[in-house]
Formats: sequence, structure tokens, C-alpha cells
Amino acid sequence: MCGIVGYCGPRPATEILLEGLKRLEYRGYDSAGICVGDGVGAITTVKCKGKIRDLREIVPSDLAGNFGIGHTRWATHGEVNDANAHPHTDCSGNLAVVHNGIIENYTVLKKKLESEGHVFRSETDSEVLAHLISSFYSGDLETAVKQVAPLVKGTFGIICVHADEPGRIVGARNGSPLVLGIGNGEMFLASDVTAMMAYTRQVVYLEDGDIVVVDSESYRTSDVKDNNIEKKIESIDWELQEIEKGGFPTFMEKEIFEQPQSIERAMQGRLDRELATAHLGGLNLSSKQLLNIERVKIVAIGTSYHAAMVASYLFETVARIPCTAELASEVRYKNPVVEKDALHFVISQSGETADTLYAMRELQRKGATVLGICNVVGSTIPRESDGGVYIHSGPEIAVASTKAFTSQLVALYEFTLLMARMRHLSFEEGMLILENLESLPGLVAQVLASSDKIQKLAAKYCQATDFLFLGRGLNYPVALEGALKLKEISYIHAEGFSAAEIKHGPIALINEATPSIFLIPDDRLREKVISNMKEVKAREGKVIAVSVTGDDEVESIADDVVFVPRAHELLYPFLMVVPLQLFAYHCARLLNRNVDQPRNLAKSVTVE
Ligand code: AGP
Repeated sequence: MCGIVGYCGPRPATEILLEGLKRLEYRGYDSAGICVGDGVGAITTVKCKGKIRDLREIVPSDLAGNFGIGHTRWATHGEVNDANAHPHTDCSGNLAVVHNGIIENYTVLKKKLESEGHVFRSETDSEVLAHLISSFYSGDLETAVKQVAPLVKGTFGIICVHADEPGRIVGARNGSPLVLGIGNGEMFLASDVTAMMAYTRQVVYLEDGDIVVVDSESYRTSDVKDNNIEKKIESIDWELQEIEKGGFPTFMEKEIFEQPQSIERAMQGRLDRELATAHLGGLNLSSKQLLNIERVKIVAIGTSYHAAMVASYLFETVARIPCTAELASEVRYKNPVVEKDALHFVISQSGETADTLYAMRELQRKGATVLGICNVVGSTIPRESDGGVYIHSGPEIAVASTKAFTSQLVALYEFTLLMARMRHLSFEEGMLILENLESLPGLVAQVLASSDKIQKLAAKYCQATDFLFLGRGLNYPVALEGALKLKEISYIHAEGFSAAEIKHGPIALINEATPSIFLIPDDRLREKVISNMKEVKAREGKVIAVSVTGDDEVESIADDVVFVPRAHELLYPFLMVVPLQLFAYHCARLLNRNVDQPRNLAKSVTVE
């Protein structure tokens, strides 16, 4: 969602802010702006709806200054227009602020400020911050921010500047991410590290309640009562080339093709051949505590929820532990029951998804132990969870999640192996799973080799307006994931179902214009899915099957087939999802969609 960047230092701020905003484009946005201070008592704000390239066009070529703030907006309150873009300024134009989050009590605050003579120029909740801080300002921006923070209800990550305080930026965090980057004689503030990675690897992750003040040489973190807060300086372990396209036309294609490596990284140092088990360092649970777990509940949303659903099948089948997957957005408001013998997981690529974060906090409030499975190091969920696992996918820039999904699965498979080996699973059975996991990178690489074939299929089918995705067992959530991928980046309507469910309703949708994509691995449900496929064919439905090399029967029934290599039946979710990612990708490209930044979507959804 909204992206924030701030800079203080010897270099020209305009270029650094625009570059930083460019790096944040992946978060999804509809307008952008910057405010640059000249260091001798003036600040200039430039903003517009549209993309960073539109902003670049209106930024005056002589906009000079060595400190400033910038923002990419993803509209929540108020339409997408120039006035609603950030930075917002106070009436004098001397104070500018950018905000990520939602101010829930802005109507009350705005009314009061208007009655005091403040004139608002936008429909946003964020503008209230500029006027409110200004109303408390008496020569020290830091003090004003500290007075304002307790009055604001909602979530915020803000940074602000004042014309009378050249070379200084003040930031505050409550619920929306803010990171400080420490350079050599320069400082950065941003909503995520990608905006500053080109300049520094040293960062401080701010926490809720933190206020930060920076100039080019120093920073200070404190709370609203002005107590100093010591923060740990951490190193970014991502490489700059990981947030670049590396010769691929889009980030999504790059990330799909990275999966053999990202899967391997998610396994590194975690598989134990001597004991035929897995070790997950960050769980913070003793063997005794793990043995006392009688059920597992996994909470997530979107693609991460589909990974959770796969795990719910896996835990029950392999570890014989009852397991449920629940949508994070629903958990928070259902007054969830926390059972003493249950272990809770939340899964989130970004570690910032509001629905998942709030669900986690609600579960923790009720006494649950919640472990996180996340990708972004230092993000809020891993910081607030009781332990967990990083999946080490590397930065996932495309809005559509691909490599994070397969790495989340790896972590969940590892946990299953660990739990099963502590219970009934024999050494030999454990070893079989372990060796199969080790073979995954090679198998996924074989599937990726079908990309050209899948592109041809996409060309044949991408004019269809509706698709069904059908699978069973472990591959039912994969069907849901295939449908989600297709709709989010190609805008083609798609629904996923359990193949068995279609005759209870969805089969009414079948006609020759609605293709069905069937997932048919050679598992124990193969025959049943083939019957479902025949039911669709009997009603003139077109069928694309994702099946296993050499399955002539499927080939003879389906209109088109994509083959994946034969594998252990537990591995098929990995092998089946890759063709679906590629199918969605090629359809979207053929339809000329913005694959990496699909309309209306944001990479990390930090509002409910
Ligand atoms: C995935 O392609 C989607 N863009 C989206 O559903 C995403 O998975 C969801 O918003 C959850 O994100 P998270 O994993 O960062 O929590």
C-alpha cells in the first residue's frame, strides 16, 4: 500500500526521493509526491495522480535541496486526484507530512481544526495530521509530533519536515511500518528497506510508539514522553540485484523462474538426514512443548491462506494432527476460542498484512502461542509473534505472490516432518519425505521448461471470460491459488473448486465458452477427478489438464494437457502450482496487462 521515503544528507534529495519511490512502486499506488527542503528556510511540495514518471515530468528541474520526504498513495479516503496525493501541508505550506495508515478519528479532528480556522485542501484522512501537528508547533517539530501522536486514533507511519528546521526529519510509527537507514553522513527513512537498499545496509526497524528524529549525521529514537529508546542496528541481507529484474521483462516472471533456488533456500540447514527430520530454529518451543501439541490452527489470507489450506491436509495426513486453516480477516472478529493444546501459525509473505497481524494479536490476547511463517525480515509479524520461521525467498516484488507460496509450503512441510517424526513416523518414512523434498528444486526446474508450451495454451484460451480451476485433496487449495493468480493479473473471472463439488452447483456454469483447468496428479484421487473431467466434457466444456508425464488416459480425454514430472504424491502442490502461475502470467501478458502492478491491488495490504 502507501510507500514512504525520506532523505537527509549531502546529496540532492529530489533524485534520491524519486528513486526511492520508484523502488516502492511494487507496493501498488495511484499517485505520488515529494517535498524537498532547500536548507535555508523553504520547502517545495510537488505531487500528482499517476505514476512516478508523471511526477518526474512536473518536478521543476531546479528543485534543489538536501532533505525531503516522498510518498506513493494507494487511495483509501478520497478519490485519486492531485489534491489527495501526499505530501500534505499545513495552511502556511511550511510543514509537510506523508502518512501510511488510516486515521480513524479524522472527522472529529478535522471539524475542530476547521473551527479554529484551518483550511483543508483534500478529502483525505491524512491531511488532518499536517494541520494538527502545525497547531501544536512552536518551533520544535519533534515536540509537536509527540503531542499529536496520542490524540490520533488509527494506524500511522509518518514522516514530516518543517521549513524552519532545515535538514531535519521527524517520524513516528503506530501500526504502519517505518525503517531508519543509517548511511555515511546521510540518513534515510522509509516504509520498507527496498527504498534505501541502494545506499545503505544498516537499518533500525522502528516499533509502535517510537518517534525518530534524524539529521544527516545522527538520529534519536524516543517515545512520546521523550524517554530515549535504544534500538538495535540490523543489516539488510538482501542483495540489490534481487530487487531488480535481472533480464526478465517483469518481476513476476523472474520470481516464478527463481523457484528452484528459493525452494532450496527454504530447506537450507533445516533437513537432518541423520535423524530423518527437520529443524526449525526459530520456533522457540522445546521438544516437550512440541509433543504436547494436539492441534494446529493456521491463519492467513490470499495466497498465504492457500498455503495454509495445503498444510491443513498435510498435517492431518502425515503428522496425524488435526489442523485447520482460517481466513485471517474472519478470525479477528469471531471471538476465536483458543485451546490450550493448540499451536497457532500465521503465514504472511510481507509480515505486514493488517488482517493477519490483527488476527495474530487477538489470538495472543487470548493466550495463544502464535508462530509466524514470513518472508520479509524485520517486518511486524515476525517481530510480534512468539517465534517462527523465515522462508528466505528473497524480495518478492510482483504483487502476485509466486515464489513465496512454494517456500511457505516448504516451511510447512518441514514442520510436518518434524512433528510426524516426533510421533508415529518411522525413520524410513521420514527419510522418504526428506529425500523427496530435496528433489523438489530439480522437479520444479523441469516444470518451468514447459513455459513456452503454456504460453501457446494461454494464447489459445486467453479470450475466455470465465475459467474454472478444479483439484482435490492437497491440490484443491492449488486450484484456488490458480484461480486467484489468473483473476488478479489478467482480470479474467476465475473460480476454484474441489473437483468433487462441481456437481453440487458449479457444473451449471459449464458450456463451451468456459474452460476448466483440472489438476490430475497420479494420487489416490486420480480416478475420481478423471470422472469429474468426463462430466465436464459431456457438457461440451473445454478442459485443460495438468497431469503427470505418461498419463495417456488423461491426454485422451482433455482438450489440452500440461505434463509435470511423476513424483511422490505429497509433492504435487509444488509441481501443479507452477503451470498455473505460468498460465496466469502468459494470459496477462498476452492481454497487455500490467503484470507486476495489477489494477487496484497492493503488494502488502496494511489496511483492513
Ligand atoms: C497474492 O497473489 C495476493 N497478491 C494476495 O492475496 C496476498 O497473498 C495477500 O494479500 C496476503 O499477503 P501476505 O502473504 O503478505 O500476508
